[in-house]
Amino acid sequence: MIPESLKNTLEARVASAITAREAAVDVMKELQAHYGWLTDEAVGEAASLLGLSPLQVEELATFYEMIYRRPVGKKVIHVCDSISCWCVDCEGIIEHLKKKLGVGLGETTADGMFTLLPCCCMGMCGDGPAMSVGDVPYGKLTPELVDEILEMERQKA
Ligand code: FES
Repeated sequence: MIPESLKNTLEARVASAITAREAAVDVMKELQAHYGWLTDEAVGEAASLLGLSPLQVEELATFYEMIYRRPVGKKVIHVCDSISCWCVDCEGIIEHLKKKLGVGLGETTADGMFTLLPCCCMGMCGDGPAMSVGDVPYGKLTPELVDEILEMERQKA
């Protein structure tokens, strides 16, 4: 169950939207921030706030790759595997991330810090290989830079 203050904030967001669906991503992101991921309970709460069915919320949630319907680590790494990044060896970066973190794609590190996910083009094609950690984008990745970023993100956590 969400705190009354968060409920009020989300109700105000929905009330300011022209249609409930317009506020859906904001509502799901806020609930995700509260729970750590979009739990079944959160889907029900989003549905109630938005005046949608849980199935409609589920459809929206599974469309957006930044909405997580399974538990994730404290920080989610999205590493681009689309064509421009592929041309500059994103596969090498992905392999380095897997080795460094000791996880496969879709998995979370043993300490619960990072979840590693592949993603489609992030709009940073000229700066590939690219990834984001949480909301922070990083480009022109090399294995050495990845190591520095992971260390810095761990310290920021
Ligand atoms: S293809 Fe990777 S950011 Fe566009």
